[in-house]
Amino acid sequence: MKKVHEYISGNKDRFLSELMDLLRIPSVSADSKYKGDVQKAAEFIKNNLQQAGADKVEICPTKGHPIVYGEKMIDPKLPTVLVYGHYDVQPPDPLDLWTSPPFEPVIKDEKIYARGACDDKGQVFMHVKAFESMIKNDALTCNVKFLIEGEEEVGSVNLGEFVKNNKERLKADVILISDTSMIANDVPSITVGLRGLSYVEVEVTGPNRDLHSGVYGGAVANPIQVLCEMIASMKDKNNHITIPGFYDNVVEISADERTQMANAPFSLEEYKKDLGIDDVLGETGFSTNERTSIRPSFELNGIWGGYIGEGAKTVLPSKAYAKISMRLVPNQSSDEITALFEKYFMSVAPKSVKVKVKPHHGGEPVVTPTDSIAYKAASKAMEEAFGKKPIPTREGGSIPIVALFERELGLKSVLLGFGLNSDNIHSPNEHYGIFNFMKGIETIPLFFKYYSEMAGKK
Ligand code: BES
Ligand code: MN
Ligand code: MN
Repeated sequence: MKKVHEYISGNKDRFLSELMDLLRIPSVSADSKYKGDVQKAAEFIKNNLQQAGADKVEICPTKGHPIVYGEKMIDPKLPTVLVYGHYDVQPPDPLDLWTSPPFEPVIKDEKIYARGACDDKGQVFMHVKAFESMIKNDALTCNVKFLIEGEEEVGSVNLGEFVKNNKERLKADVILISDTSMIANDVPSITVGLRGLSYVEVEVTGPNRDLHSGVYGGAVANPIQVLCEMIASMKDKNNHITIPGFYDNVVEISADERTQMANAPFSLEEYKKDLGIDDVLGETGFSTNERTSIRPSFELNGIWGGYIGEGAKTVLPSKAYAKISMRLVPNQSSDEITALFEKYFMSVAPKSVKVKVKPHHGGEPVVTPTDSIAYKAASKAMEEAFGKKPIPTREGGSIPIVALFERELGLKSVLLGFGLNSDNIHSPNEHYGIFNFMKGIETIPLFFKYYSEMAGKK
């Protein structure tokens, strides 16, 4: 391992400059204008994996953006780790809030600023460079497969089919993913739970056309007002979601696990200060960490309608819209929650409007084991790299493919992420600490080493 770690520190500048090259490619999966760039990012990953020493590296086309596959099989009797990640990124908007352009990476205060720096190009690249470092020093002790997709940020809509059609090729013993966060740089943690997602868009229509708000105002339903009231009726004064049946399948976690969660280092004062808020707001009876991990949530992502241009226009609009995300916990099901939402939303609509509900992508919640060989190897690797035993934590974000991997391939994942909640993922000025990038590259070979040792030969 000493040679590997020397190689990593000796190549730090090149690793960083290659990552900056990847970050310069605007691989925004949500926007068709960037289709060519998404392809370019796939090619970049392909070339880099090949140069690092991977075999059978291939860009696999899908109905949407391509998947990059590569592998290094050293001995079929040894265990196989399937590394998953994504090279696509979220749209960079709003652009004017960035202090430097999102696709012109810069290093400031030991952090790389760019869209995708942390989520997930920076973290995917740690795996490519850790792999290179093991290969170049003859230190790879088990088989590796890479599955790096280009549609995670749009719900991994075509990856499911790829997984179903490539079960043999994807055969492995465990999945390793770096696409999550740690508590802090001096408080390492391993993610053991992710929330699921149900995402819907709603449309409320009042009159058949926009009306003069003086001529008709007061006599005809205003769809914006109605939409706001319908949405307001979806939470009670305890911030409990009122959709009938919403909590029916929610697994209540044990008092013991709640105590453990409460013992993880967390400062509510710092949390509020960081967000510029005077108080937090959430479901009564649960802590901030519980509200974002073991409890479901209901959030408006956008709401629009009527006139929003300069000055004033006296209009009673015909339509109003909203985009809503609901985060789910075990054992809620994405399709069931979408159906419950739709039923309730229809039921609270007054006769004076028509409503439409359009479901978008979704994903199931997951909890990963802490008593597996893979978790133990990850814990040992992190402990060695950080000098502290990592704490298992549940996080609020979603990686829909994790549940699908479990269902289709029968494989559990290890969520070994190195980001921080303060990295501004999906937000302007996304960044990734050079410390985190380098620590990730150091930790991954340790994971491979301990996992191979503990799993042994078949
Ligand atoms: N890497 C994130 C998920 C994440 C972030 C998990 C931080 C834990 C901590 C992932 O890229 C993401 O943004 N997922 C989407 C899923 C959606 C687009 C289907 C999400 O959570 O909104
Ligand atoms: Mn991600
Ligand atoms: Mn993301």
